[in-house]
Amino acid sequence: MSKIEINNVYKIFGPKPHDVLEMVKSGSGKEEVLEKTGHTVGLDNVSLKIEEGETFVCMGLSGSGKSTLIRHLNRLIDPTDGEILVEGTNVMSLDTEKLIDFRRHKMSMVFQRFGLFPHKTVLQNVGYGLEMQGIEPEKRNSVSMEKIEAVGLSGFENQFPSQLSGGMQQRVGLARALATDTDIMLMDEAFSALDPLIRSDMQKQLLDLQAQLKKTIVFITHDLDESLRLGDHIGILNAGKLVQVGTPVDIIMNPADDYVEAFVKDVNRAKVIKAKVIMKPVNEANGIDKSNLIKVQEDQFIEEFLPQVVCTNSNCEVVDKQGNTKGYITNKELQHSLTKS
Ligand SMILES: Nc1ncnc2c1ncn2[C@@H]1O[C@H](COP(=O)(O)OP(=O)(O)O)[C@@H](O)[C@H]1O
Ligand SMILES: [Mg+2]
Repeated sequence: MSKIEINNVYKIFGPKPHDVLEMVKSGSGKEEVLEKTGHTVGLDNVSLKIEEGETFVCMGLSGSGKSTLIRHLNRLIDPTDGEILVEGTNVMSLDTEKLIDFRRHKMSMVFQRFGLFPHKTVLQNVGYGLEMQGIEPEKRNSVSMEKIEAVGLSGFENQFPSQLSGGMQQRVGLARALATDTDIMLMDEAFSALDPLIRSDMQKQLLDLQAQLKKTIVFITHDLDESLRLGDHIGILNAGKLVQVGTPVDIIMNPADDYVEAFVKDVNRAKVIKAKVIMKPVNEANGIDKSNLIKVQEDQFIEEFLPQVVCTNSNCEVVDKQGNTKGYITNKELQHSLTKS
């Protein structure tokens, strides 16, 4: 069972969404629907699965439906049609009481604009979700302090948000989401308001935390580099339609259409593609010149060994951590993998 499953979800905004649903189902696009009916297509037949412990990044231009999608997961928005299953439970089946419980214990959310309480201290902000869960102050504070430390804010616990920089405020938001220890974290453009260097720091921090915590994270961004860095899988939305789902490498190597192509065309492939992705396995590597080989690790990014390969005009032998040969990459294939097919 997938952690989250979305099946044929449609969301139409406007006074009579159900009257417009058939038109959308029979293939009318967002623009046509708006023109003919004044309704906005938020999501158009979106289906996807998110597995436990992965970071799923949802990417797309502004207005493509990213926030609409993530808000369906904790039912801040109800679908016009389709179903949303979280751990096999249809979120539409939850009554008010169960929904509140679900939001408190299953999912936490990190917002773009931090969403902190200005009149509460860092410690109180981080402990807010725990307070809502009814956790005693002593326990609440000790868990909060642990999370404040985890995001590198020790010593700031008694400050107010206005005394902190944007990056630090976002860390408070992250610590608050971590404190409730929900399995699922929803992050809607959580780093988009930060300066590039601080943003990069936060990405690193999230990767480090995730390596230990293995939460299921749904992360929204309009930034390709961020998607590639954080995502185990990436789903790309265009005008409410999910146009491609894949690993970062799938997306870069085989963009599904012109829209995805436009996102990936300037990406530095050498930074994203690992040796094992482009190697020929040993049993298919007959005829490769093995006289001038350099050894590369299967998990190394091309960028790390490209200069050496080019300078020495050698082929690569790809090995695993134990040093076993897994495959080969010829000089020519390596250079070919860097240019668009
Ligand atoms: N409450 C709403 N009422 C009407 N239209 C909405 C509402 N929320 C979002 N939309 C429209 O739905 C589309 C998707 O919006 P959104 O999910 O916010 O996009 P993104 O997060 O990708 O920028 C946009 O065209 C937006 O204008
Ligand atoms: Mg949005």
